Amino acid sequence: MWGGRFEGGPSAVMRVINASIPFDKALWRQDIAGSKAHVAMLAKQGIVSAEDAQTISDGLDAVAADYARDGVPELLDLEDIHMVTERALADKIGPAAGRLHTARSRNDQVATDFRLWVREAIDEIDAGLAALIDALIARAEEHADSVMPGFTHLQSAQPVTLGHHLMAYHDMVARDRGRFADARARMNRCPLGAAALAGTGFPIDREATAAALGFDSPTTNSLDSVSDRDFALEYLTAAAQCALHLSRLAEEFVIWASQPFGFVSLSDQWSTGSSIMPQKRNPDAAELVRGHAGRVIGCMTSLMVTMKGLPLAYSKDMQDDKPPVFEAHDLIGLAIAAMTGMVESATFRTDRMRGLAESGFATATDLADWLVREAGLPFREAHHVTGRAVKLAEDRSVRLHELPLADLREIDERFDESVFGVLSVDASVASRQSLGGTSPVRVREAIARARAARGEE
Ligand code: ARG
Repeated sequence: MWGGRFEGGPSAVMRVINASIPFDKALWRQDIAGSKAHVAMLAKQGIVSAEDAQTISDGLDAVAADYARDGVPELLDLEDIHMVTERALADKIGPAAGRLHTARSRNDQVATDFRLWVREAIDEIDAGLAALIDALIARAEEHADSVMPGFTHLQSAQPVTLGHHLMAYHDMVARDRGRFADARARMNRCPLGAAALAGTGFPIDREATAAALGFDSPTTNSLDSVSDRDFALEYLTAAAQCALHLSRLAEEFVIWASQPFGFVSLSDQWSTGSSIMPQKRNPDAAELVRGHAGRVIGCMTSLMVTMKGLPLAYSKDMQDDKPPVFEAHDLIGLAIAAMTGMVESATFRTDRMRGLAESGFATATDLADWLVREAGLPFREAHHVTGRAVKLAEDRSVRLHELPLADLREIDERFDESVFGVLSVDASVASRQSLGGTSPVRVREAIARARAARGEE
């Protein structure tokens, strides 16, 4: 395709290192769409004849049909999807194929194809995340009143509801969707027409190709257009952040599924057994979601390091942009689907959660708050008094509400019978009605808001 000034061919290793067709063949649909938009514009502008444009466009459809049926041939000598397709077109329609590449370079071509691909990838991810959100909302609603221990430092801290805990992940995933949406809005500009780097002398209509390919507008600077991979990086950073959130939920499932916790039993569909230990039921899916997050972060790092320090405009390093994006997309897609399945099918052991919430002195803060509210103690003093009550209960291996009033009064005489009203875990969660708090009333409001937001999409 570019052999005019060469006498010798590439070395065997060069053929391999230079070729991107083994992976960029994934862009064939985008490449055909971009070429069809380009040639239609060339005809409209009188740069190629209407007849040639029709022949080329029909030929591209025929090539697409071949690809759909047989796959894309991995012709290493032709380097990439752009050249492989142009050759396939030439085989079909002859010399007219050579007119397609007028006023275009592979540099703006690949930038356009890849944006189209990432845009679709974002739409796929968004659909997956919407399903995960629906699963979280449904399970949260089911468990709006289910008490569990809330943790800090993985130590029992204060009772919360499982619904509240699941809605925390709803909020994270909703922000993830926002990040993907922001990236999509920013990347939806068309680089086609930037040509190799400087634009072109042909009277092209960039608005027309941008519109034909569903972009909001053309990009504004030809050098930036062929050098910019922000769109891929924004996709990867959004994917890394999302994978990170999924890995936190996955880790909680791993912990919750362990025997000492016993908060959750993952369904057979999302567990595996052991080939040697018959009793085993392992949370492999959750562990893989946790593991995949590391790989997605690796993909993001990979492209950042590729792009770092590259001078304008195109350099072949940028051909390495695609594998990490393709890999991250496969990984995050699987992680979202697996997490959704786990959330939908998990059996939450609410009796076990409640039991642990009741046994970890999780209502100690409520006791201190009672001393502030009912006996007028400064919070610091109330904290100290409560600490003594906890110590006493711990020494006797009883729960806080099992301490007799007489013993509490020995610690501080301002205690009275009404203190027992705040020591139950239900009273504790019910009282936390501050905005965003764990009270079932608030959790139900959050669920209603989340459902309304989904309804408005
Ligand atoms: N396969 C190349 C890539 O993915 C296409 C652009 C090649 N341009 C060039 N001047 N060598 O980056």
